[in-house]
Formats: sequence, structure tokens, C-alpha cells
Amino acid sequence: MITALTIADVKKYVNEWKKNGESIGLVPTMGYLHEGHASLIKRAREENDRVIVSDFVNPTQFGPNEDLDSYPRDFEADKSLCESIGADLIFHPTPEEMYGESHFTKVHVDTLTEGLCGAVRPVHFDGVCTVVTKLFHIAEADRAYFGQKDAQQLAVVKRMVHDLNYNIEIIGCPIIREEDGLAKSSRNTYLSPEERKAAVILSASLRDAGAMIDSGEKDLGKITALITEKIKTEPLARIDYVSAVDFTRLKPKKTLDGDETLIAIAVYIGKVRLIDNIIVR
Ligand code: PAF
Repeated sequence: MITALTIADVKKYVNEWKKNGESIGLVPTMGYLHEGHASLIKRAREENDRVIVSDFVNPTQFGPNEDLDSYPRDFEADKSLCESIGADLIFHPTPEEMYGESHFTKVHVDTLTEGLCGAVRPVHFDGVCTVVTKLFHIAEADRAYFGQKDAQQLAVVKRMVHDLNYNIEIIGCPIIREEDGLAKSSRNTYLSPEERKAAVILSASLRDAGAMIDSGEKDLGKITALITEKIKTEPLARIDYVSAVDFTRLKPKKTLDGDETLIAIAVYIGKVRLIDNIIVR
């Protein structure tokens, strides 16, 4: 597996692969890889001739009081995981390499970025859209793989690709969970043992909602109320949002109507903000 630290290095390999007519799958990550990332890399491996994993904690998607400095990092472990799955190249640039001394351009997706996580993370999605645009261009990827856990990110990136006619297919992949249901996330490492136990309330509340839907309930007000009540039973949990929106425009919905509905939650467990969701028809 190739380790590339510079954009020029990635381009050198990409040019070669493109000349040979090979397809390229990109898995954008911020490193500290877990089974969730592994599932994306495996899928990319199955569907492309070449697989590039980017491993870059992108500073522009963190707000001033967020966890940029403490975000977990372990590049050696990331390299081993990528190599074991058969990635061809891992791209690990510095912020200076990605953004140079000055950077005047950003990509902004309107409306879809205003609610849910965008409401408390105002610069986040501009940072995500800008960095993934750069990665798409550097890797000249045919396909890019994103986890459904960051469902708003997935919807925003899909919209950007649609609106700006990017020549890339965005593939959303299922959430990978711990045995007790907690969605895998690099930020789970911030949880104390007590908080880790409490965090199971997120997936448990969504499981209850799933059961309510399976039994025929279509009223999203009742479904989100059930989730809210369940989360409130956990003393360490504080709700940021419990929302039901349509999965393409992220507009609030009142009833399940056969189109994809995203039921998304963000909950603080102690100081750690966790997200989870289900997508239902
Ligand atoms: O989901 C993430 O890890 C990041 O937001 C991404 C897509 C790698 C962009 O930095």
C-alpha cells in the first residue's frame, strides 16, 4: 500500500491508474479508523480497481470551541487497517498541504445545512463540502463512500454532487454498531465507562421507534415523542435534537408517507455529543 503525504504524490498514481482505464473508489475519513470505516473500505475494494483512503482531520469543519485538538489520531493503526483490507493508497496530508498558506474558496450547500447538526455547528458543513470537493478532485474518484451514521453529511454531499454536476457516484453505507447497539464512532473514545453504558440509550430509543413503526404507527410526532421520552429516562443524557425529516431535502415531516424519512437524534452524554439515526419508509 502506498502512503502519500502530498497532493502531487496522489496525482502521480491517479494519473497512472486513469491512463490504464482503472476505476477509483475513495473513502474520505478523519482517521482513527474503526469497523465502520472498515466496512466502507471493504465495499470500495469490491466495487473499484483502485481504492484510496484519505486520512485527514480537517480543521475547517471544526468550530472554534470544538474538539479539533483533542480529536483522536493513530496513523500507524490506520495504515495497518487499510493495508489489511487491501486499500491501494492512504493519503495523509498536513493542513498546510491541503490548504496552503491561504485559501479563499469554500463550498456552501444551502438549506440542507441549516437544521439538525448544522444548527449548532454553523461552519461544519462548509468545511466538509470544501474538503470533500478537494479530495474528489485530487483522487479523480469514480465513487466515494460515506457512512449513514452522518446522515446529514451524506444528504448534503449528495446534493452538492447533484447541484454542481460532479462526475462521481456517492454511495451511502449502513451504520455499523457495537454489540449493545451503540453506533461506532471515533468520538465514543471520549466516553467514561459510566457514560459508555448510558450511551446505549440512543440506539435503544431508535429501536423502540422502529418497533412502533413496524406495528403500523405513521404519526412522526408520536414516534419522536416516544424517542424523547425514552432518552429522558437516562440521567446522563441531554437531548440536542430529535427530528424527523425527508431524507433528500431534510425538511421536517409529520407523517410517514412511503418516501425515505430520516429520524435523526443528537444527544449529549455528559459532555460528549453523539448522533444516531434510522431511515424508514
Ligand atoms: O465523516 C468524516 O469523517 C468527515 O466529515 C469527512 C467526510 C472525512 C470530511 O472531512
